[in-house]
Order: sequence, then structure tokens, then C-alpha cells
Amino acid sequence: MGNVIAIDGPAGAGKSTIARRLAERLRYTYIDTGAMYRSVALWALRQSVSLDDAYRLNQLAVAADFELLSQGQVMLNGEDVSEAIRTPEVSAAASKIAAVGGVRTALVSKQREIAEQRNVVMEGRDIGTVVFPEARIKIFLDADPEERVRRRAADQPDVAPGDLAAQISERDARDRQRVESPLVQAPDASYLNSTGLTEEEVVEEILRIVRSRISNGKEH
Ligand code: DC
Repeated sequence: MGNVIAIDGPAGAGKSTIARRLAERLRYTYIDTGAMYRSVALWALRQSVSLDDAYRLNQLAVAADFELLSQGQVMLNGEDVSEAIRTPEVSAAASKIAAVGGVRTALVSKQREIAEQRNVVMEGRDIGTVVFPEARIKIFLDADPEERVRRRAADQPDVAPGDLAAQISERDARDRQRVESPLVQAPDASYLNSTGLTEEEVVEEILRIVRSRISNGKEH
């Protein structure tokens, strides 16, 4: 297996931007696992599969063919769904289907396969706890709630800030409280609050953590 840098944290903490920049700096492959949950949700919505139908959702997750391209495009079954998976409707559906055990099992096994032959920066909610509990570098990236709403507002200028705050806190609560692989900091993860820091400062801080773990002999 390649080296894994696991980055977990709540929505709007800056995981995607930071993970992508970090991967560029280290020449690792960047993997956005949230895009996989979003893609399965999109497929389910298109097929009118009920978000409570665990059996059919599991079938979709098993059958889904993903390609995560280095520029961040997401291909589902050969179709570029990069934009289609970012709507509020898909965000809400992704958070619901992510609570289904069978969906998680199928996607976790695909995530492990991806890292078999390359070094990855993988971001999500359960990377350091469930997907790669043995990863030597784990970051729990957080930000204050107001900052997380501000960041999402910059991505989605057409949604009212109050609605955005409500959507984020609803998704967070669901991600943190679900029975299957809830969002939680791994005991051996480094906690990093990005509030008030620039992207470059956060990346530098993570690189410091990477270097200190390497020099402690925990990484080869
Ligand atoms: O990071 P994101 O907002 O694109 O993730 C979409 C949803 O998928 C979010 O509600 C949490 C869920 N998710 C998950 O449960 N586990 C992951 N490893 C990644 C995302």
C-alpha cells in the first residue's frame, strides 16, 4: 500500500481545498471520498430510488464506477458529474445515503483499492477512523461554525446565509450522530482549526506535522 494522509472533518472546514493543495505539494493523488457518496446519491435520485431503500442503495454503490481525475473532475459510469453532484438536493441526499451501512461498506472497499498502488491524500469523514485506521498521518480539520458558513456561502452565492447555516448544521448533526462510522476525531489524529488561517498557512501546518511524524520514524 502507498502512504496515506487522512483528512477528516465537518463540512466547510476547508478539507477539499487543503487536501488538493497538499496533494500537489507532495505529488500524491488527491481523493475526495465525499464525491463518491454524492455520486451514489445523484444516481439514486435520477433512478428514483428511495433514500430509505438500503438494498437498492447498496446495489448502486457496488455497481458505481468512479474515476476521480487529478483536476478534481468526478466521473460516474463514464459521465462527468462534477457539477451535478454539488447541488443542495444532492448534498442533502448524500448525507442521508451515507448513513446506510451497505453503501459505506461498498465505498470503503473502493477507497482502499485506490490507495493500494499509490500515495494518496484522502479526505472525508471516516478516513482516519475506518478506511485507514493504520494511516500514520491523520488530520482532523475543523473551523468555527460561522467560518464554515462563510466559506460555503462563497461557493453557493444564490443560497441565503440563514438557509445555508441550517443546511450545514443539519448535515453535520446527521454525519456526527449516525450509527455507522460517525464523524469523529481518531484518537491519534492531529486537530487543526483553520479559522482565521489562510489556505497556505493550513497547508504549511500540515506539512510540519508530516515532517515531524517522518522524523519521529513513524513514516518511511
Ligand atoms: O464532503 P462532502 O460534503 O462532499 O460529503 C458529502 C456527504 O457524504 C456528507 O454528508 C458526508 C458524507 N461522507 C461520509 O459520510 N464519509 C466520507 N468519507 C465522505 C463523505
